[in-house]
Amino acid sequence: MQNLSQVLAQSSAPDSLKSVLAVTTGTCIAISDALKQGSLAGILGMAGNENVQGEEQKKLDVISNDMLKDALMACPSVRAIASEEEEDIVAANTDGEYLIAFDPLDGSSNIDINAMVGTIFSIYQQTGDHAATEQDFLIAGKHQVAAGYVLYGPSSMLVLTTGDGVNMFTYDPTKQSFILTTENVQVAPETKEFAINMSNQRFWSENMQNYVKDLTLGKEGPREKDFNMRWVAAMVGDVHRILCRGGIFIYPWDKKDPSKPGKLRLMYEANPMAMLLEQAGGKAHTHTQRILDIEPTAIHQRVAVVLGAANEVDKCLSY
Ligand code: F6P
Ligand code: MN
Repeated sequence: MQNLSQVLAQSSAPDSLKSVLAVTTGTCIAISDALKQGSLAGILGMAGNENVQGEEQKKLDVISNDMLKDALMACPSVRAIASEEEEDIVAANTDGEYLIAFDPLDGSSNIDINAMVGTIFSIYQQTGDHAATEQDFLIAGKHQVAAGYVLYGPSSMLVLTTGDGVNMFTYDPTKQSFILTTENVQVAPETKEFAINMSNQRFWSENMQNYVKDLTLGKEGPREKDFNMRWVAAMVGDVHRILCRGGIFIYPWDKKDPSKPGKLRLMYEANPMAMLLEQAGGKAHTHTQRILDIEPTAIHQRVAVVLGAANEVDKCLSY
């Protein structure tokens, strides 16, 4: 069985990108070790401050962010980082050629119930002789050179694309490395499983209400089949399920806060997951366009997300 560095050695990824991936995934193992300590290390609960999105930060949001930031800033190939937990981008090495955007701990409301969380990352290549600025990060997701996540579940799993399909790796603590366990992941175009936070139903657009109503009508409704529903409340967990057994995941625009185009963040959540989904034969859209085509206007920008099985995404958008 091949490990991550053996798989990367056979890929066309340049050494500089391999070093960024090694630092990122290595730090994720350290985050996973911290998560395992949980209450024993006194790291559960709130940090007592809000992030730039106005969300309460958990201690583990801050710890994971600091671990990734410190490790990446020390990597010579890193030009700059942008994090969901940092207000501004942080410039690293002007000679570095990679910009890394990350959500250090996605689904952090799951931490206190010992449920799935993960780290999501998105990597762009960019050079220049100036210190990186926020403007440098405002690149459409289709230009990502690599994207992935590490899921902290019963086992820790790395799911990665460098633009040539999607591979899944399982962390082997005895070897201290990620072992390739599923090659060339594919998402079937049809599905009978959907993921959406139903408690927001009354805030959705009429079209979204009609689409989900037709799913719940099952065999007796216009879709003529029964659908199942799942919601992990951590995007990383819901996307992982879709990559494993198919489905559709939706976090739509809603009327709760009409000024926000959606809940999920373009740079840290939507773009990397969209690259993974497309590389696995699925689709990822907002209600109006392909996510990877969006030209970002701000690093903390939010978007509506509809991703997963290609035909089901099309069906949803047809409403
Ligand atoms: O990061 C935002 C996030 O935690 C996602 O991981 C997840 O899909 C979503 O929010 C959960 O939202 P809700 O609180 O509506 O269940
Ligand atoms: Mn998140």
